[in-house]
Amino acid sequence: MSPGAEFKISGPQRLRGRLRVPGDKSISHRALLFAAVARGQCRLSGLADGEDVAATRAAIEALGVHVRDAGTSGDTPGPPGGVVVVRGSGFEGLSEPEAVLDCGNSGTSVRLLAGLLAGRPFHSVLTGDASIARRPMGRVVEPLRAMGAHIDGRRGGEFTPLSVRGGGLVGRRHELPVASAQVKTALILAGLQAQGLSEVVEPAPSRDHSERLLAVLGAGLAPIPGGVRVEPGGALSAFDLAVPGDPSAAAFFVVGACVTPGSDLVVEDVCLNPTRIAFVEVLRRMGARIDVEVKEERGGEPAGDIHVLASPLRATTMAGAEIPSIIDEIPALAVAAAFAEGTTEISDAGELRVKESDRIGTIAQELSQLGIAVEVRADGLAVHGGRPRAGLLKSHGDHRIAMAAAIAANACEGASTIRSWQAIASSYPGFAEDLGQVTGEGR
Ligand code: S3P
Repeated sequence: MSPGAEFKISGPQRLRGRLRVPGDKSISHRALLFAAVARGQCRLSGLADGEDVAATRAAIEALGVHVRDAGTSGDTPGPPGGVVVVRGSGFEGLSEPEAVLDCGNSGTSVRLLAGLLAGRPFHSVLTGDASIARRPMGRVVEPLRAMGAHIDGRRGGEFTPLSVRGGGLVGRRHELPVASAQVKTALILAGLQAQGLSEVVEPAPSRDHSERLLAVLGAGLAPIPGGVRVEPGGALSAFDLAVPGDPSAAAFFVVGACVTPGSDLVVEDVCLNPTRIAFVEVLRRMGARIDVEVKEERGGEPAGDIHVLASPLRATTMAGAEIPSIIDEIPALAVAAAFAEGTTEISDAGELRVKESDRIGTIAQELSQLGIAVEVRADGLAVHGGRPRAGLLKSHGDHRIAMAAAIAANACEGASTIRSWQAIASSYPGFAEDLGQVTGEGR
């Protein structure tokens, strides 16, 4: 199922039926890392099947953790993907890797591993691809250094490769200048291995998957105003987890269904954590018809279905504390804005500039290719909604820009092409097949 260099798509094609998306990427990284340092055998099913999570798996194997594939889950209805069994022996069970840990395109892998390895008394090197080499690492390196870790990297530790010599950490309070679940999780992982208490406080809430899953595993975490307190020492219990579907992947289909007349789609078994589904609220403000039904709780996470019907959309504003909870969905929401009546303003979103691509620039470029007028600001965009038309698009090496381009193209009259399509492999190698399934092409 490895994606080709170009994706051709002819629209409009309505989205109908039921769909499951890959397991949540953020939870998959955490499940692998926490299983690697838990005590005993963990069975993980429905892990995200993209290259990013594969990089985290390869890293824990390089750190001496035994990981094996155990066939399909056999659950009915169960998560897609196979079952992976991880045998951890606590934080002390990790051993010095013999080679550099290559995290590919995965910023989550680099930052979470930096926090984990900051506590281990050995040397390791974290690196990644050309996009990773441009992403800011000082935000995780500096607070880890303040706890006593020895970390270096290009430009004083601002960029990969990062060289980590960990151990001897002392707990402390961190006040993050920017809300970041990756940095928060790195500091939680370091705090669990430190002497004394740590606290991590953010200017706005970011996704809280680490807090939820670690609490289930018996870690000493407690909520404090604006953040979390970490008490080191306790062992993490072994656990089994069927990872719910990725709401950020679901968001492309939800927006695709909103903007393509005649659509009626259910995305099943999606993680419905409130820090991840704020995009549904944004779309409802725009006039979307969406129902969300929580069906169960797994690993501390609510999971269930999202049902969406096509409807005309109107412009909205996205800003302030809402931004961290829609940060990965802005490429999809910008497509909704392109089809909406009026001008949608997105601000306080400067973080978009340091994702897999400079998403403020890349969203603007791709919407312009579809004939939509976009104003670029330092911290956001103004999208003048209208009638996008088919065009020649490209991913800029960014999986979410590729998928946003695809759902926009699917709703336009005529044929579009998306170049450098293979970028989708980092999170959703089967995206084109799944889109084909709900548009009827695959039948
Ligand atoms: C992630 C957190 C977010 C998000 C990224 C995944 C995570 O980044 O954009 O795709 O799994 O913790 P921040 O650390 O900037 O919040």
